[in-house]
Amino acid sequence: MQQTAIQEITAADTLDALQLVKTKYVGKSGLVTKELGTLGKLPPEERKTRGAEINVIRAAIQAALDEKEATLKRAALDAKLQSEAIDVTLPGLGLPSGGLHPISRVYDDLIAIFTRMGYEVAEGPEVEEEHYNFEALNIPWYHPARELQDTFWLEDGRLLRTHTSNMQIRYMVEHDPDLKMVSRGKVYRYEATDATHEAMFHQLEGLVVGDGISMADLKGTIAEMARGLYGAGAKVRFQPSYYPFVEPGADFAIYWNNPRGESKWLELGGCGMVHPNVFKAVDDLREQAGKPRLYEGKTGFAFGLGPERIAMLKYGIPDIRYFYANDPRVMGQFRGELG
Ligand code: DAH
Repeated sequence: MQQTAIQEITAADTLDALQLVKTKYVGKSGLVTKELGTLGKLPPEERKTRGAEINVIRAAIQAALDEKEATLKRAALDAKLQSEAIDVTLPGLGLPSGGLHPISRVYDDLIAIFTRMGYEVAEGPEVEEEHYNFEALNIPWYHPARELQDTFWLEDGRLLRTHTSNMQIRYMVEHDPDLKMVSRGKVYRYEATDATHEAMFHQLEGLVVGDGISMADLKGTIAEMARGLYGAGAKVRFQPSYYPFVEPGADFAIYWNNPRGESKWLELGGCGMVHPNVFKAVDDLREQAGKPRLYEGKTGFAFGLGPERIAMLKYGIPDIRYFYANDPRVMGQFRGELG
């Protein structure tokens, strides 16, 4: 029995196969174990010698099993290390490269245009106080304009800003005139989404304050932005419009040729001359903060626009929801080059 057991152990070439041999001989109902069980029926003097014999056999089988198990385990580990070894002579696989989101690209273009014109770049909070998003911008609680900007309210009475115009107020409270600033960021509206509406989107806000700033400066600035975006031939159009924080107010559009050879007016945003009530609200806030009232009597213009509109036309993206769905089939088209 010892001989056949040793042969079988030698032949076992996997740990599973070895386990079967182990069970067969030294398991609970294995052949050796059974043999030991028969000892009780033997007369005492025989029992002793026979028992010693069987134990020698069992020890030999067990030793062979242990040794084989160690060998097989070492071989398995070697194979694993081998398979994980790095062959430094193989050619590299390369890593997929990321890319700038189309909205970031449009923002970068816009910011470059305005910093060239001497504007500072400011950033501000998305969770905002009602006062900065509405009241200080001449939008009291009863104003119908609030219905145009359905609002996400927080339980503590604050809100998700509905536009970047809050930054007009924050910037003027922090900085003395004269100033030129642009501010980019996310804005939120509580409304149903469709191909041209998202509950979260982006804006670029601009504000210029000084002495004797006029509507002509505003028009010249928007025209300069249009030329920066679409080249020397770009045309701009202004139409009277109403926003509580400007007077007069206007909407502006840019006429341009998109990469697919279409020419169209692109309604881009709103603008106007800063309303005196806004300057007053700013001075009130400044006074509360122990700062001098420097804004009443100043003149200025402001504008706000949506980079999504520019990006949709520039890149031929038909649905605003594609920007934020993180679908690699869409975003994968914006890998690599940074322009
Ligand atoms: N805040 C306005 C909106 O979200 C856009 C706007 C209009 C901004 C006129 C301005 C402005 O600064 O002068 O609809």
